[in-house]
Amino acid sequence: MSSRDHWGNKLGFILAAVGSAVGLGNIWKFPYVVGKNGGGAFILIYLACIILVGIPILITEIYIGKKSQLNPVGAFRFFQKGKVPFSPIGYAGVLCGVMILSYYSVITGWICHYLMLSFRGFSGTETEISTIFDHLNATPWLNVAWHTFVMVTVMLILMKGVMKGIEKASKILMPTLGILLIVLVCYSLTLDGMKDAWHFLTYPDFSKVTGGSLLEALGTSFFTLSLGMGAMITYGSYLKGDVNITKSAVQIASVDTLIAFLAGLVIFPIVFSNGLEPSAGPGLIFKTLPVLFAKMPGGHIVSIAFFALVLFAAITSAISLLEVAVSFVVDEYKFSRIKAILIMGTVIWVLGILSAVSSWNIGGVPFLDIFDKISSCYMLPLGGLGTALVFAWAISNEQKYAEIGSKPINKILLFAAKYVAPLLLLVVFLREIGLF
Ligand code: TRP
Repeated sequence: MSSRDHWGNKLGFILAAVGSAVGLGNIWKFPYVVGKNGGGAFILIYLACIILVGIPILITEIYIGKKSQLNPVGAFRFFQKGKVPFSPIGYAGVLCGVMILSYYSVITGWICHYLMLSFRGFSGTETEISTIFDHLNATPWLNVAWHTFVMVTVMLILMKGVMKGIEKASKILMPTLGILLIVLVCYSLTLDGMKDAWHFLTYPDFSKVTGGSLLEALGTSFFTLSLGMGAMITYGSYLKGDVNITKSAVQIASVDTLIAFLAGLVIFPIVFSNGLEPSAGPGLIFKTLPVLFAKMPGGHIVSIAFFALVLFAAITSAISLLEVAVSFVVDEYKFSRIKAILIMGTVIWVLGILSAVSSWNIGGVPFLDIFDKISSCYMLPLGGLGTALVFAWAISNEQKYAEIGSKPINKILLFAAKYVAPLLLLVVFLREIGLF
């Protein structure tokens, strides 16, 4: 395993992990989920989920990867003690990544389409603009073309390797994303709706919070930190030497949360300034924002910046999803990296066509929604639970302290990883399958 590629330095790892974490989940999903659940109070619950479950599981995944220096399947096998095989958790993770990337790439393709349209500028009436999305949805070849473009781009970046491909792409794309986001927040600060937006995001109105909000907060925090399917195990496996895992996990989660919050600060002032409902749902950035870009001063530039930002965020996340499958094939079947990328990329591309053709469905439910539901509602919490259980019961405290340290803060986080996180994940899963 000495030929294993590694990160060039700690910053490279952090940026790549942040690149994986920050994606459509932060910029597209987080604002609309917050909008749906009433704002500030939901954000508090979300923060609690990040601290109590997100960070502990992130530490767990990085630890498992770094110690084993293997892909998720190999990593779980590495920690197996008795007869019960652990590797199925890894196999499920690889499968889950394949599934998520297949539709994630299609949505990223929509972003590409809107970025292209931004260069021309949005114009026309509200109905005309919102039909763009319907038209895109009803044109399979266009979706397949963009999906192909995204997959090829991601595959080309991965072919350059871990350090030269993933790390370099993250080092360029993540700071650019940060700058674009700050520019957009400055722009939103000038809007009349900023006051309402700030109030909406920070005032905790617990009357809007339901039992479902807790589940949604936990699910969103899990998805946005890229947990539950081995992405952070894989990135952890490219770490070597002395790395403070707790500190890294806190940094990754903080940046991820900050970016989600800033994305909210960009989107909600635009929404409030124009009298839109914050609870507009998943169509928020595709159907409503372009309407506003068409009429606001400087909207042309703002829309280019906005969709470029989302695209960068999505590409670095897609990279991490494909890397899980690639590292699995390279480690387990000893394929060359290029061959592994070509094979797994093609498999995912073919699977993604099911999501790209929106008229194909099972019982009226489009494939994109089916894959999203299976992967993020069932497989991720279950994968997270499996990971937490292995970490809790198959690895001794001494081993953990030796790697992670035994300062009080580490002890608290390890306690959360052992008891709090699995319990909450179990509750979420049982609730998802409708047991209560
Ligand atoms: N975290 C990314 C986002 O917020 C998506 C993502 C990348 C992901 N890799 C993952 C989600 C692994 C779950 C598991 O958009």
